[in-house]
Amino acid sequence: MSLPIDRLTNTARFRRLSERFHSELQRTRPCSPAARGELGREWALATPVVLIAGDGIGLEVTAAMQAVVQAAGAEVAWIEAMAGLGAAERYGDPLPAATLDLIRRYRVALKGPCTTPVGKGFRSINVRLRKELDLYASVRPVSTLPGVNVPYDHVDLVVVRENTEGLYSGQEHVVVPGVVESLRIITRTAAERIVRYAFELAQHSGRRRVTFCHKADVMPLSDGLFLNTARAVADDFPFLEFEEMHVDHLCLQLALDPSRFDVLVMENLFGDVVSDLCAGLVGGLGLVPGANLGQRYAVFEAVHGSAPDIAGKGLANPIALIRSAAMMLTHIGQRKPAQRIEESVRRTLAARRGLTRDLGGNGTTATLTQELIANL
Ligand code: NAI
Repeated sequence: MSLPIDRLTNTARFRRLSERFHSELQRTRPCSPAARGELGREWALATPVVLIAGDGIGLEVTAAMQAVVQAAGAEVAWIEAMAGLGAAERYGDPLPAATLDLIRRYRVALKGPCTTPVGKGFRSINVRLRKELDLYASVRPVSTLPGVNVPYDHVDLVVVRENTEGLYSGQEHVVVPGVVESLRIITRTAAERIVRYAFELAQHSGRRRVTFCHKADVMPLSDGLFLNTARAVADDFPFLEFEEMHVDHLCLQLALDPSRFDVLVMENLFGDVVSDLCAGLVGGLGLVPGANLGQRYAVFEAVHGSAPDIAGKGLANPIALIRSAAMMLTHIGQRKPAQRIEESVRRTLAARRGLTRDLGGNGTTATLTQELIANL
């Protein structure tokens, strides 16, 4: 059953957090004149973007993100919608139909992490969202950042993950008690569009090599189809280098020297695992942004989850969601505030002031947000 949209506005707690960041912003760090000028324009100029705060640390990092995006001078009208634990408790569905309707109407969304209740019969809301809106490409740029203490320099790669099929198709059933089957769906259509997306991304962003990751020796039918499709697509891009690699070997190579990789493309489960691994190589989940893209809709979100272990403690690093917002701003044509945000992230990390614990500091979400705003 579809719910009225006005019943899906976010929780009072999220509003309070958001208002607190905004009032701190007004009091302590006035916006730059340039930012003030842009913020003073007509509301009508703002691009509507659906905002799903999610749950767990989602509420905290979303409030921080909004403060930074506003201070950067972006023109965004947030349309708040609910998903995650709050929606499950209130509406019996962690991804209510009205939230999907809002994304279909406005086409672009920014989403905080959402917990999937374990053992309560809910399918992952993230998997559902990607399938419902056919957000077939997950794009996660992973790069070395200044001031972050990691063993690797010069990492600059993009993980492109097929988002709708594979083992995440949700096709599971009990064959007989004690025996369960999960189907790993691979179709030529989905394989072709994701590999083509990876090549086009490489072409348009000045990258040189696409590495296709698979396990076709063990799964000759499913990954065999994926691999042959990838080879056929690669033929259309003779000016780009194409490399094939077993996913286990890829993990070894990533641990030895991630700087040799450029664009990585792979199926759903491999992509899920490899993107967390890559986040670890450059400083952790708190830093890596992401986008879920389809023909019609785009949903931006950090790689990390709802982090229940630190939720509500003010310890969450908001940078991954803030950088996801920068990706969203670029997507809707607001490049200047997007660049301002990315530069501020770099300056803040390099200065190492106000950083959260995951980055080796002893600051909080609030101190890091203030530094990010100051460095815009
Ligand atoms: P997680 O990413 O929430 O947390 C893993 C570890 O990283 C935890 O120790 C956490 O404290 C830390 N961490 C994550 N983000 C952080 C941040 N921004 N700042 C500082 N530390 C951070 O992964 P986990 O624990 O496996 O999943 C928790 C829940 O999140 C599950 O219900 C899962 O389904 C959901 N999830 C949702 C995602 C989404 O909405 N896109 C993605 C991944 C998981």
